[in-house]
Amino acid sequence: MASPPSSSGEMGQPAQSLVGKVILVTGAAKRIGRGIALRLAAEGARVAIHYQRSEDDARRTAKDCGGAELFRANLESVAEITRLFGDVEHRLGRLDGLVNNAARFTRFDPLEITEKDWDFIHSVNLKAVFFCCQNGARLMQKAGGGRIVNIGSLGGIRPWAEHAHYCSSKAGVIMLTRALAKALAPAITVNSVAPGVIPFEDIDERGKQLIEVTPAGRGGTPGEIAEAVVYFLKASEFVTGQILAVDGGLSQR
Ligand SMILES: NC(=O)c1ccc[n+]([C@@H]2O[C@H](COP(=O)([O-])OP(=O)(O)OC[C@H]3O[C@@H](n4cnc5c(N)ncnc54)[C@H](OP(=O)(O)O)[C@@H]3O)[C@@H](O)[C@H]2O)c1
Repeated sequence: MASPPSSSGEMGQPAQSLVGKVILVTGAAKRIGRGIALRLAAEGARVAIHYQRSEDDARRTAKDCGGAELFRANLESVAEITRLFGDVEHRLGRLDGLVNNAARFTRFDPLEITEKDWDFIHSVNLKAVFFCCQNGARLMQKAGGGRIVNIGSLGGIRPWAEHAHYCSSKAGVIMLTRALAKALAPAITVNSVAPGVIPFEDIDERGKQLIEVTPAGRGGTPGEIAEAVVYFLKASEFVTGQILAVDGGLSQR
């Protein structure tokens, strides 16, 4: 006779609550980062809002998150990243989660791109993500564990001819996620959400064309990216090193 499903292994463990968790979101002033911050605040997390230039938007997002703490840093600089995480520890006492959302996006013919153009993208999209993970993981170890979610891109999975530099930075984020998942297991999980086209007012013709061929028949929303981020933040340590494309099926074309 089968025994009733009584153990937590058979029933599955309830998802972790985010209530009271300290979670830093980089580039959280507007657009996708704002959407993630608002959702985390709605889940009861103590959100730390990072921004660089968009101070007014950051203040609005912090207010809409119920009075979240604000942190300014230029993520191109490892010294500023170290100071940022020191400030988070000093002001919030701990770090339970990190969402690496800040990034840059440019378009160049690969035959024309310069060293400066290359570094402009990689300094933020890849180098900063690594050093934020390093600094964040050191704090999370003090808290007994944590969750890191790196925001990648469909461009890190599919090749885009005029974005070779951007695609390689986001492909780097995917491998960083997988390698750090191994390095930091089991206490800290590292996963990645790869958005498809999430349109805003500055969408260009290429973005519109990508939406036209998206199987879902539309672009995505910051709320849909936030939903995937919340999944990884709440999941057990058994979910790590994973890349979740939230792209309306565009990666399947
Ligand atoms: N939108 C899309 O369709 C799409 C598609 C695929 C992937 N993604 C990814 O999703 C994430 C969010 O996308 P998004 O379109 O919302 O991003 P975004 O508006 O282009 O950038 C997010 C924030 O990154 C911050 N940032 C840039 N350089 C920085 C630096 N040197 N130091 C500190 N912060 C810096 C900026 O903060 P400040 O404004 O405060 O300076 C900016 O608001 C990114 O990782 C992006 O690659 C987006």
